[in-house]
Amino acid sequence: MRTLITNIGELSTCTDAGILRDAAILIENGRIAWVGPADHAPTDPAGYTEVDAGGRAVIPGFVDSHSHLVFGGDRAAEFEARMAGEKYAAGGIRSTVAATRGATDEELRARLRGFVDEMLAQGTTTVEIKSGYGLDVETEQRQVRLAAEVTDEVTFLGAHVVPAEYADDPDGYVDLVTGPMLDACAPHARWIDVFCESGAFTVEQSRRVLEAGIARGLAPRVHASQLGPGDGVRMAVELGAASVDHGTYLTDDDVAALAASDTVLTLLPGVEFSTRQPYPDARRLMDAGVIVALACDTNPGSSFTSSMPFCIAVAVRDMGMTPAEALWAATAGGARALRRDDIGVIVQGARADLVLLDAPSHVHLSYRPGVPLVHTVWKDGVPV
Ligand code: NIG
Ligand code: FE
Repeated sequence: MRTLITNIGELSTCTDAGILRDAAILIENGRIAWVGPADHAPTDPAGYTEVDAGGRAVIPGFVDSHSHLVFGGDRAAEFEARMAGEKYAAGGIRSTVAATRGATDEELRARLRGFVDEMLAQGTTTVEIKSGYGLDVETEQRQVRLAAEVTDEVTFLGAHVVPAEYADDPDGYVDLVTGPMLDACAPHARWIDVFCESGAFTVEQSRRVLEAGIARGLAPRVHASQLGPGDGVRMAVELGAASVDHGTYLTDDDVAALAASDTVLTLLPGVEFSTRQPYPDARRLMDAGVIVALACDTNPGSSFTSSMPFCIAVAVRDMGMTPAEALWAATAGGARALRRDDIGVIVQGARADLVLLDAPSHVHLSYRPGVPLVHTVWKDGVPV
């Protein structure tokens, strides 16, 4: 099956080629077969389906490299209390654990698929999904198994917080995570993650978790410096993590370590929005040479948005990114955070995961916040 998208007014490649005007893209067998000026588009004697973009903008599908989509219940009351002055704390995770343990596979699956569809409709064509609301062997395994039904980017996050039943024995819980729980979950996952933060896991415990995962063939990524500064970012860099996520409170040493590494710093503006914490300074990071990605961190506690355009708008408005930098971070940057080179870019050979915006330019993603601007989404070359 061949499709030519033509009459593209502005095409953001999210590669060194930058922005093309009056462009066209040829899709063949789910991949981008050709991209260039519309008046040079290959002709096809066998015929292809032609889509007229009407002068609108085309961008790569968003790569949302951080989410927690398998859970029961919600925490609207916690959010409401926070907006009335309560502080966010890691312990809220435990109430979602109770609701998740109590949900059936069918309930979790229906909810999960609903979130994935909601994301797709907003232009997200790849999503990473973490476990972490089971915190026992059976429920963690259910979470990674269900996540693997909808994405290749599955992350085992048994070390999200210490569950209530291990409150007096956190190291015993780390034994469980690095032993039987890892055995049960590793076959369904690509990544290992840990919440390295006060109220969750210490650097020593986090290192144990990540090293055990690495020994089982999982690649590391880390939640760190969300609630305050700590040593998690530097540990993540030392272990060669693909990404360290949050980074709300970064020291100069953290920034220097990141800049000297190929570990991506994934910023999650939905979290600062929903917890009333200060937005991190993306400009400082980018000027220092850190690779920055943007993701939603969709979860019922700290960030219940699934909208990458919303995150882009906040990053531009409040974190010092230009619209083009924020778009890159939400596409190619997310792909870097997942160590993927087949998504997040519009280049010959990449997957044909594309978004046609109902707007003349990618700038409208932040210029028109809250407005649904997605006209058509192609996933593997197929309109969805
Ligand atoms: O990424 N930081 C840890 N985990 C989630 C929050 C989970 C929750 O509050 O339920 C996060 O923000
Ligand atoms: Fe998270």
